[in-house]
Amino acid sequence: MPRGRFLMTRPRFDANVPVMQRTKLTVDGVRSMKGRVPVAALTAYDHPTARLLDEAGVHILLVGDSLGMVVLGYPDTTQVTLDEMVHHLRAVVRARPGALIGGDLPIHSYSTPQEAVASARRLREVGADFVKAEGGREILPQIEAILADGIPFCGHLGMLPQHVLEEGGKYRIKGRDEAGRQRLLDDATALESAGVFACVLELVTPPVAAEITRSHSRLLTIGIGSGPDCDGQVLVTPDLVGGFPWFTPRFVTPRAQTGEIIRKVAGDWVRELPLPPLLP
Ligand code: KIV
Repeated sequence: MPRGRFLMTRPRFDANVPVMQRTKLTVDGVRSMKGRVPVAALTAYDHPTARLLDEAGVHILLVGDSLGMVVLGYPDTTQVTLDEMVHHLRAVVRARPGALIGGDLPIHSYSTPQEAVASARRLREVGADFVKAEGGREILPQIEAILADGIPFCGHLGMLPQHVLEEGGKYRIKGRDEAGRQRLLDDATALESAGVFACVLELVTPPVAAEITRSHSRLLTIGIGSGPDCDGQVLVTPDLVGGFPWFTPRFVTPRAQTGEIIRKVAGDWVRELPLPPLLP
């Protein structure tokens, strides 16, 4: 019996040993960073990534529905379900991060105010500090219902990935013409007046993103592909670390090539496996 090999044990993971604890950030605390400290937000879909990002000092961990594309293998976010969001949110919550945890409401989970509240409650009960949904004035009744239920809300304006199929499959820059600029400003104002604490600005032209940021003193803007003049920035973590090497958005320069590292390490391991014992 090749003992050493089979008797080896792994150190037990003890879920009760606290992870490196940071003081838990609050929605009001993060909102108060506006104009003072850049807010760093990254997506997380699993426990180890959430822990690592939290230990790195990220302020917001967003369990985004980009989950569908970079983890679940869907072509876009239009097939992600609330059950899938809940499953991944649970893993992130188990990291007990000091960072705020945001949960995306997936497509078809907030078509009416009643449905929006029921879906937001599910994410909240699992441990989301806030929920996020895509859209401006067209989903204002849903946003107001969620806020009236006591659940902090983060908006999402500009390119709305849940509507990518209506856009012919293209991720288009928003705010290019005067009508587009005005629409974005009016949507941001409506969100701010409703009591929304933050808003993702995705693929908004940098001057318009800057204008929204400066003209809304109670709305924290978190840009993605919208230039530097936002209160904070968010990225899909695999884009930042090269973890999804088959596609990287044009506005991201990966700071590592973790996909390449995994390929190399796994390939080396495969090639270096010991030969099996010869059969008698
Ligand atoms: O789903 C997501 O990850 C997002 C970010 C890109 C902001 O909405």
